[in-house]
Amino acid sequence: MRVLGIESSCDETSAAVISSDGGTAALESLVILSQDVHTIFGGVVPEIASRAHLAAVAPVVKRALADAGCPLDGIDAIGVTNGPGLVGALLVGVSFAKALAASLGIPVIGVNHLEGHLFATALEDASAVPPFTALLVSGGHTMLLDVPAWGEYNLLGATRDDAAGEAFDKVAKLLGLPYPGGRHIEALAKEGSAKRFRFPRPMLNGGQRAGDADYYDVSFSGLKTAVLHAVRDAEQRGALDAERADLARAFQDALIETLAAKTVRAAVAKKRTRVVLGGGVACNAALVSAVRDRVRAQVGNDAMVYAPSPRLATDNAAMIARAALFHLERGERSQLSLNAFSSMPLAN
Ligand code: KG4
Ligand code: ZN
Repeated sequence: MRVLGIESSCDETSAAVISSDGGTAALESLVILSQDVHTIFGGVVPEIASRAHLAAVAPVVKRALADAGCPLDGIDAIGVTNGPGLVGALLVGVSFAKALAASLGIPVIGVNHLEGHLFATALEDASAVPPFTALLVSGGHTMLLDVPAWGEYNLLGATRDDAAGEAFDKVAKLLGLPYPGGRHIEALAKEGSAKRFRFPRPMLNGGQRAGDADYYDVSFSGLKTAVLHAVRDAEQRGALDAERADLARAFQDALIETLAAKTVRAAVAKKRTRVVLGGGVACNAALVSAVRDRVRAQVGNDAMVYAPSPRLATDNAAMIARAALFHLERGERSQLSLNAFSSMPLAN
């Protein structure tokens, strides 16, 4: 079975082909076209994103099919992200997928973008499967989930305000770095001292107990404000250029320690020995190694932490095709009335 995946929820137009013989799924092709135009505005402009998807979707799908050596009639089903995301952007992918599926007489299935992120690592590592603890950290979402089986997603905690990626992007802006700022902060933090500044670890204290409302939740807006004050202070002292890397390092350390500690709490409470990371912030090597170190120290040396390679961590259609395959194999199909939704819960 060959599944074409289409992703257009934000500012990446992506298409991928995966194949499955009923056992393992193999990635045949993946094309990701990132819309660079938004860097001019320092954030994604929804209307521009929709128009860019419209121009790109057909050539991106064609290219993914060609790369996979797969003719149009070699596709057995189409999976498409239908939420959550920018509605106008999502509608481009959804309309294209429905029209193509109808013309080929094959099924189409709508995929929750967040479920896609959970499937990304499984494409690279066959052992990255439930039961596991999942930390989903992207520009739009920060969620801690317990996943006893594919299709069962129990939300343990989430951000109360900014998503982790959003915090990276906002702090990058404060430091005068380009958008999206996550990878620029990571690079700068490598040159910074961990000792020059120390920012608060939000919603993290030893006194918290399972059952407390903030035991698994995170909050990054206070951290961002602390960085803002430190940046202003450095500016007034004429020291921002000298201390920029130290500020990036201290911010990243605070955010990472919080996420790693909460992830370990979830793994310990649910007795999981596997942890799966997903979303753009999972590209951050310092985050991955901090989670790995803590999980090994507190869950056990045989505990495994999986993170997708950067191409599969950020938004892509391969993870959408993989999640679609799971639902298709269970006999699920979407109707041609399939719609796009800006918010779409993954878990209860
Ligand atoms: O999953 P994604 O591609 O899109 C959403 O669904 O939001 O995530 C994008 C986010 C951006 O906020 C970006 O700054 C962040 O992922 N990001 C990083 C890194 N690479 C991308 N954050 C921290 N460190 C990185 N290396
Ligand atoms: Zn995403």
